[in-house]
Amino acid sequence: MVGAHVTRVVRERGHEPVVLARSTGVDLMAGTGLAAALEGVDAVIDVASTATSAAKPAIAFFEATTTRLLAAERERGVRHHVALSIIGVPEAPHGYYAGKARQEELVMASGGGWSLLRAAQFHEFAVQMAQRMQVGPFVVCPSMRAQPIAAAEVATVIVEIAEGAPRGLDRELAGPRIESMPDMVRRYLRAIGRGTPVLAVPLPGGFGRALRDGTILPKPGARLGTVTFEEWLVAQAQAQGTTAA
Ligand SMILES: NC(=O)c1ccc[n+]([C@@H]2O[C@H](COP(=O)([O-])OP(=O)(O)OC[C@H]3O[C@@H](n4cnc5c(N)ncnc54)[C@H](OP(=O)(O)O)[C@@H]3O)[C@@H](O)[C@H]2O)c1
Repeated sequence: MVGAHVTRVVRERGHEPVVLARSTGVDLMAGTGLAAALEGVDAVIDVASTATSAAKPAIAFFEATTTRLLAAERERGVRHHVALSIIGVPEAPHGYYAGKARQEELVMASGGGWSLLRAAQFHEFAVQMAQRMQVGPFVVCPSMRAQPIAAAEVATVIVEIAEGAPRGLDRELAGPRIESMPDMVRRYLRAIGRGTPVLAVPLPGGFGRALRDGTILPKPGARLGTVTFEEWLVAQAQAQGTTAA
């Protein structure tokens, strides 16, 4: 979701992107193609992800991919590793966030030049929910309050970070307004002409509470993007030739 924007921004700012993805012949889990791809690379922006909400596969993915990336970067003399994480990961290291917490630990302990940016959910997260969470006639979405940001704005910030000196843990990055995630998914589905009903499900336990109680909202001092979910939605609908409801 954000990787395509990162690649575009890298190119727009006059650099040469090398895309590390299975679709381009690099598997970060197996390490296939990695050493050759990093030849001559100055900075790595890690926006790889896996589609799971469970802790075990998330930890396995982020541990393996981060470990392999950092080792290959060391070998190739890459000067800057930039990782994208999520606001609230240290406070709620459960489910998918458990994998992100492991990734954060590995990056912070790497001893090399690193930057870590914690961002809020993307506006595009509503699309991912709509695509991944269809259960029978419904789309199921956790009850969740977020301050979402357009993936394009995240890409601009993270590329700027990669261009500079390693800065360690950076300021959080979020969007301009607090939104309800189930409501975002409903509005997205309406905008693309799908009337699928959305069920808001309060997840149990500490993680569910963190999603609802403001733990994943930006803290004071966060950097804020400017594009609201509504503006993003209208732009999406225009791009697809449909009308936003
Ligand atoms: N989505 C959000 O709302 C959000 C918010 C804040 C932070 N983040 C963070 O931002 C990052 C990107 O999220 P996203 O939603 O943009 O992810 P995404 O759309 O799911 O994309 C994941 C990318 O990872 C690549 N990938 C997966 N497995 C791989 C493997 N074994 N080897 C190499 N590449 C692999 C995929 O390409 P191939 O399939 O071609 O391999 C794809 O390009 C993640 O770290 C996520 O935690 C996301």
